[in-house]
Amino acid sequence: MLQVKNLSKKFANQVAVNAVSFEVQEGEKLILLGTSGSGKSTCLKMINRLIEPTEGEIWLNGQNILQQNPERLRRGIGYIIQSTGLFPHYTVAQNVGLVPTLLKWDKVKINKRTEELLEMLRLDAKIYLQRYPHELSGGQRQRIGIARALAVNPPLLLMDEPFGALDPITRAQIQKDFQEIESLANKTIVMVTHDVFEAVSLGTKICLLDAGKIQQIGSPKELLFQPQNQFVEDFFQPARFQLELQIAKVADIQVHLRTEKKTSENLQSEQNFSLDSSLLEILEQTASHHSEQIISVLADAQQYLHTSREEILKGFYLWKATQV
Ligand SMILES: Nc1ncnc2c1ncn2[C@@H]1O[C@H](COP(=O)(O)OP(=O)(O)OP(=O)(O)O)[C@@H](O)[C@H]1O
Ligand SMILES: [Mg+2]
Repeated sequence: MLQVKNLSKKFANQVAVNAVSFEVQEGEKLILLGTSGSGKSTCLKMINRLIEPTEGEIWLNGQNILQQNPERLRRGIGYIIQSTGLFPHYTVAQNVGLVPTLLKWDKVKINKRTEELLEMLRLDAKIYLQRYPHELSGGQRQRIGIARALAVNPPLLLMDEPFGALDPITRAQIQKDFQEIESLANKTIVMVTHDVFEAVSLGTKICLLDAGKIQQIGSPKELLFQPQNQFVEDFFQPARFQLELQIAKVADIQVHLRTEKKTSENLQSEQNFSLDSSLLEILEQTASHHSEQIISVLADAQQYLHTSREEILKGFYLWKATQV
C-alpha cells in the first residue's frame, strides 16, 4: 500500500530524516517512535507532502506521490494531529463535512455521514453538531478531529501524537475505541508517538528512530525481545516489565493454565477477560484480589480457564523464556 524508499530531509545543514525506508501493508498500523526531535513528524508530513523530501521516493498504491497534485493527494489521506487543527469558526458539522464538501458530495449524504461518524465516536450528534470547537473539551475536540479525518473514509490515515494532550483515562478510552471501532481497526495507519505503551498496544509494526535514522523496524515483540542494538534495548528499558506483560496475551500462556468446562456454579465468576486480553490488563484489574482468588477467562463458548495471579505470572516467565 505505502512504500517509503530512502527518504531524507535536510533543513539548512541539519539532517532531520536520514535515508528512511519502510513499507506499510493494507490494514497495518506502523508506529513512528522516537525521542523528541528524532524526525517522526517530518517523516509523516512528507507522506502527505506538507513537507517536500530532499531525497527519496514515496509510493502510495503503486503511484509516486511526488508526481501527484498535493491538494488532491491530501484529500485522500486522513491527517490527525495533536492540536486537532479544527477551524475555530466552523461548527462541528462544518468541520467534519469539510472534505466531503470540497469533493462536492450532496448535502444529505454529508449530513448522514457526519452523524454516523459522531455516533461511531460516541458523541451525541444532537448535542454536538452545532457547537464550535471552543465549546468542546479537549477529548471531544480530539474525537471531532478523528471524525473529520475519517469523513471520506480515506484508505490511509496519518496520525501525529493524536492522543498526546489527553488525561490518562480519556486517552485509554480513545485508544480502546481505536482498537474496537471496526472501520478504524481495519484502516492502514501511520502514527507518530513517543509513548512506548501506545506504540506497543496499537502498533502492528514499530519503526524506532533516533536522530533521523531507523534504529530498528519490526513487530513490538521483535523490538522488545530481539533489540538490534543498544539504543533499542535502552529505549524500552524503563518500562520493559510492563511492556512485556502488555505484549503477552492469555493465548500465549494458555498451555500453562487450568481449563474447566463452563458450569452453572462457575458462571458467577465470569469476568471480561478473553484469550486476547493482555496479562498486564488482567493483573491491573485484579490488583486487589487475594492471591488464591480465581480469575476466569473465556477460552471459547464452552470453556473457561481458571487461574490466579500467581499462575499468570508463572506462565508469563515460562513464555518469556521461549521468546529470547
Ligand atoms: N521547518 C523546519 N525548519 C528547520 N528545522 C526543522 C523544521 N522542522 C523540523 N525541524 C528539525 O528537524 C528535526 C526533527 O523534527 P521533527 O518535528 O520531525 O521531530 P519529532 O520526532 O516529531 O519530535 P517531537 O517528538 O518533539 O514532535 C528537529 O531537530 C527539528 O528542530
Ligand atoms: Mg513531532
